[in-house]
Amino acid sequence: MQDKPTNFPAAQPGGAPLKSITEVLLERRATNSFTDEEVPDEYLQAILKFGAQAPSGYNLQPWRFVVVRGEENRKRLQQAAFNQPKVGQAPVVIIAVGMKEEWKQTADEIFREGAERGAGNPATVEQYKQGALQFLSGFDPALWVNRHTMIAVTTMMLVAEAYGFDTAPMEGFDAVAVRREFGIPEEGEVVALLAVGRAKEPDKAYPGRFPLERIVSSESYGEAWKEK
Ligand SMILES: Cc1cc2nc3c(=O)[nH]c(=O)nc-3n(C[C@H](O)[C@H](O)[C@H](O)COP(=O)(O)O)c2cc1C
Repeated sequence: MQDKPTNFPAAQPGGAPLKSITEVLLERRATNSFTDEEVPDEYLQAILKFGAQAPSGYNLQPWRFVVVRGEENRKRLQQAAFNQPKVGQAPVVIIAVGMKEEWKQTADEIFREGAERGAGNPATVEQYKQGALQFLSGFDPALWVNRHTMIAVTTMMLVAEAYGFDTAPMEGFDAVAVRREFGIPEEGEVVALLAVGRAKEPDKAYPGRFPLERIVSSESYGEAWKEK
């Protein structure tokens, strides 16, 4: 594994400052059509590296990503994504995959290294691993990898927005076709696609969100939460 990455671009391409967290969260819209303007490599690297900093249960990092940039490949991916035009248009589409089994092999390395870095006790690594194996055996593997992989995808989406790019998260794809076309192993759960690039048209209108009173409870489910 590696240390915290450094040397990220400090500004948007062209020099505008990075967007603030408020701008990132309020200006992001799911983008429907993209220009063919490239995402410069250093920005794509930054988006991926920040995404890889996402948290996961036991730090098992079950996510894997296939970065699709080749025109032919994007067209193939578009076919597997119910022909959504944005998949073929965007210069970059990231296929986010959650590996349902691989973590059982990598857990040792992760726990040992975590302990060496001071984030655990080297003497109890084996015990910790057995505890994790037992605890996680109670979860539906597809659900478990989805939970973690989407945090990384969300992180990438917000980082891309901070750098001034536009994104489109997608669940509209045939997972079997995506797996087959892009050589993804059988145990790989195709969790989402994330298109990154530049919007061709002005953002669509803000579609609205539930007020907090509808989605937040106080202390116990259904107990009124008052938005201040
Ligand atoms: C996990 C996920 C999957 C989505 N899948 C698709 C999709 O396949 N096609 C699409 O056009 N939009 C898709 N969207 C975009 C949503 O429709 C959009 O985020 C939602 O309408 C809210 O709009 P906003 O993101 O601009 O606020 C998806 C969004 C998320 C978070």
